[in-house]
Amino acid sequence: MKNIQLEKAFSRRQEGLLKLRESGTNCYRLFSKGYDGEVPVSFDVFGDVIILNYYEGEYSASVEEFRPWAKLALELTQSQSVYLKSALKDRSQERANNPMYDLKPWMGVASQESVEVSENGVKYLIRPYDGYQVGLFMDQRENRRTLARAAKGKRVLNLFAYTGAFSVACAMAGAEAVTSVDVSKKVLKWADANFALNGLEKFPHQRRPDDAVSFLKRAARRSERYGLIIIDPPSFSRSDSGVFSVEKDWKTLLKSAVAVLEPGGTLFFSSNFRGWEQEDAVDIMYQWAESMSFDAEDGSVPFDFNLGEPGYPLLSVFLRKS
Ligand SMILES: C[S@@+](CC[C@H](N)C(=O)[O-])C[C@H]1O[C@@H](n2cnc3c(N)ncnc32)[C@H](O)[C@@H]1O
Repeated sequence: MKNIQLEKAFSRRQEGLLKLRESGTNCYRLFSKGYDGEVPVSFDVFGDVIILNYYEGEYSASVEEFRPWAKLALELTQSQSVYLKSALKDRSQERANNPMYDLKPWMGVASQESVEVSENGVKYLIRPYDGYQVGLFMDQRENRRTLARAAKGKRVLNLFAYTGAFSVACAMAGAEAVTSVDVSKKVLKWADANFALNGLEKFPHQRRPDDAVSFLKRAARRSERYGLIIIDPPSFSRSDSGVFSVEKDWKTLLKSAVAVLEPGGTLFFSSNFRGWEQEDAVDIMYQWAESMSFDAEDGSVPFDFNLGEPGYPLLSVFLRKS
């Protein structure tokens, strides 16, 4: 079967994929919407499971047009199943008509409920049919590695921790202790499972089901200090503590984090909020850093996400006291 766009995407990744394999990574983006072609899909490979992300309404294509693509993706990557995640125009239809919670795949054979994958030799569990997000944000692969290196011997605070991917990577790299904060108890349990999967049952990992800003305020009152603070919030969220909007709340968040940062510590801030122009967001971060006497350094986007222009829309910056 021929599909020039998908085959091209696969072949331009060959060198990178070889390096990924050597570094103990078996998950990557095979086809990136907007970079590999002007079609409303991305293909993510997690071990032998493929996640097909379909962005309804961005172009006139129907998802059924991508069945041959999915078949070829299975062949090229020697995977077993394709699960479909649709970003529907009408969000109210998401639960009803979306096969996101269905163990039956869109193509191929059903996967386990939890699938073990690895990134830079660290293991993570992903869940292919447990909602829109499967448990690991692969676009943070490079930043995760940089953070792990910086974590050695540090007390690490991971805010908006989700399934604890940053937390586990830091623990594996020799952090002294890690605290993971997230409003969802469900994802913190998942983080626990990721710690256990890596033999870290005895590691001093604190999990805090809490709102990030409230946690920071309380931590400052208790004079807690952290050597590395990771802040990778969603663009927008609602919880019992109220509404969080990265556009409105980023400054409060960063200021509150500075209050619990050890002298000489590092802050990492990241966001894929689409309302900021990429260049403007970077400028805003650098201006803030200067006003707070921090040095700022850009994070990175993995090769399989960022293959051309315009760049992949992920803002990430490391901030250290100058
Ligand atoms: C985009 S994910 C974060 C990704 C994560 N940093 C990672 O790299 O795996 C968003 C997470 O933020 C959590 N969250 C949303 N609002 C929050 C809040 N106000 N305080 C703490 N956690 C929050 C959600 O429960 C979710 O797990």
